[in-house]
Amino acid sequence: MAIRTTSTHSTLLLAFLMIFLTTFSSPAFAQLSVSYYGSTCPSVFDTVRAATRLAINRETRMGASILRLFFHDCFVDGCNGGILLAGGERDAPASINTARGFDVIDNIKRQVDTACGGSVVSCADVLAISARDSIVELGGKSYSVPLGRRDTRTPNLDAARSDLPSPFDPLNVLIDKFSRKGFNAKEMVALSGAHTVGQAQCSSFRNRIYNDTNIDPDFAATRRANCPRTVGDSNLAPLDPQGQARFCNNHFQTLVNRNGLLSSDQALFNGGSTDSIVRTYSNDANAFLTDFKNAMVKMGNLSPLTGNQGEIRTSCQRVN
Ligand code: HEM
Ligand SMILES: *[C@@H]1O[C@H](CO)[C@@H](O)[C@H](O)[C@H]1NC(C)=O
Repeated sequence: MAIRTTSTHSTLLLAFLMIFLTTFSSPAFAQLSVSYYGSTCPSVFDTVRAATRLAINRETRMGASILRLFFHDCFVDGCNGGILLAGGERDAPASINTARGFDVIDNIKRQVDTACGGSVVSCADVLAISARDSIVELGGKSYSVPLGRRDTRTPNLDAARSDLPSPFDPLNVLIDKFSRKGFNAKEMVALSGAHTVGQAQCSSFRNRIYNDTNIDPDFAATRRANCPRTVGDSNLAPLDPQGQARFCNNHFQTLVNRNGLLSSDQALFNGGSTDSIVRTYSNDANAFLTDFKNAMVKMGNLSPLTGNQGEIRTSCQRVN
């Protein structure tokens, strides 16, 4: 009798387990995995790393540009390659005329396809790996990149308009936009440390250097020299004067010195609730690099398409 009860229990348990598994292994719950292409494209990591290194050796800034593409991809309906499509999300205000690196990602994807004898790796995965490799190449901490994301056929321009932060957003809006994606203020500040590398155009920081009051006057004067009031919209300045090509915590020291280039950067250190986080990171490179890495892993998990959702795009800039 006792034995019978136990076996009834285990049968029931098994039945529940099976219902649970069939319910929750639907694509929305499917897990990404580092070995996803283990049999179909075993050299994907090596190929992306080599190609990313080459692109960065050719132009250091490309590492920053690829990292930004990944951020803009993941923040709009998840990491689904939507940012890469011509005529879609990348035409939203946050990306148009500023997002770059599309041809480089296309080129890396072609190399992966050649190495693996067909189009089996998604553009979303290529971008996720290349962003990680860019961070490492520029001096950041490495992390593992689980794979299995599929590419969207339906880019979401409206979401790109509403969900991506603007350089003119005040702190409460920045906090809100990141919290909608599951990031707290500390993670947001850590992620913003990406602005240690890369550059911005005059049109992104003109208002700040002519109108903001929370800016070091000498710094503003220096930046005005190459960003006139009415012309030179695309003139470049480093997001961080000390960093630019090396991934470190310089950006936070820059903010403490009121040398933030974007109004949204300085908003993180402007007498508000995030000041203490900025100060902590400005004094502790290791804390920043670790928190940044962990937040990047989290970003890479934002609602991917999996299973048979979406597609594996052949050319990253258009649907199949
Ligand atoms: C906190 C809100 C953020 C705002 C408002 C913002 C805004 C901007 C703007 C306006 C630019 C310059 C674009 C241009 O003028 O060409 C830029 C560049 C950049 N952003 Fe952000 N960003 C934010 C967060 C992030 C995050 C979370 C990442 C990555 C984790 C990131 C990575 C980058 C990189 C690497 C660049 C330089 C790109 C290049 O040189 O091509 N940003 N960002
Ligand atoms: C400074 O602010 C004023 C008032 O908002 C605005 O009209 C002007 O265009 C701004 N100047 C720059 C250079 O952005």
